[in-house]
Amino acid sequence: MTNPVQKIHDSKIIVALDYADANSALKLVNQLDPNLCRLKVGKELFTATGPQFVEQLVKKDFGVFLDLKFHDIPNTVAKACTAASNLGVWMLNVHASGGLEMMQAAQQAVQSCDTKPILIAVTVLTSMNQASLKQIGIQTDLTTHVLNLAALTKQAGLSGVVCSAMEASLLRKNFGQDFCLVTPGIRPANTSLDDQSRVVTPSDALSYGASYLVIGRPITKAENPLQALELIVKEIGGSI
Ligand code: C5P
Repeated sequence: MTNPVQKIHDSKIIVALDYADANSALKLVNQLDPNLCRLKVGKELFTATGPQFVEQLVKKDFGVFLDLKFHDIPNTVAKACTAASNLGVWMLNVHASGGLEMMQAAQQAVQSCDTKPILIAVTVLTSMNQASLKQIGIQTDLTTHVLNLAALTKQAGLSGVVCSAMEASLLRKNFGQDFCLVTPGIRPANTSLDDQSRVVTPSDALSYGASYLVIGRPITKAENPLQALELIVKEIGGSI
């Protein structure tokens, strides 16, 4: 059975719900349209609001990316992936550094669920650099390490990775058209960078090969979030 959410909508935009509580998140969600975007729930909101909140978003017809970046022994990660899949989420993720066996167990778990969400992996966190990799015992060049972990992700049968839009062309070239690339660090032209430094516009990110764009503050902090979302949809050639 295909993911029911995938059948309904095919928006490329994932709005990051970086909120501390359900009320603030819902205030924004109630202004958005599930035909135009999906939603990302991360560790802060999930820890504060729990699985019921995710189910609430799913009931509102939004595709939900549950961004919990699981990383543990294979059995534990597989069980967590089953629990997440049973919430009806559209996408979820694990850390590729958990290894091949862990990712294979996770993929098998999501494939055994009726909803079969898209499973992707985080390669190297963008908060890390060459020096921080060295601190944890990795001597490999950072880009090579990203490529190695993306290759392991593909080998494990996962659908793709989270990456910077600036890495998207390289990953697209190496891993083919079917590999799903989810890219944060997106800023429409003439909007605030906030704390992001290496940003790419929505249409450039797609032209570099991104499959989905994670966008937070340009939409969540806009005076009119729906209008900001619609402008981005138009910029990337979508219909509203
Ligand atoms: O508000 P903004 O568009 O910067 O939000 C980007 C979202 O993507 C946040 O939820 C942030 O945690 C996430 N993210 C990121 N860079 C990464 C991975 C995730 O900005 N490398």
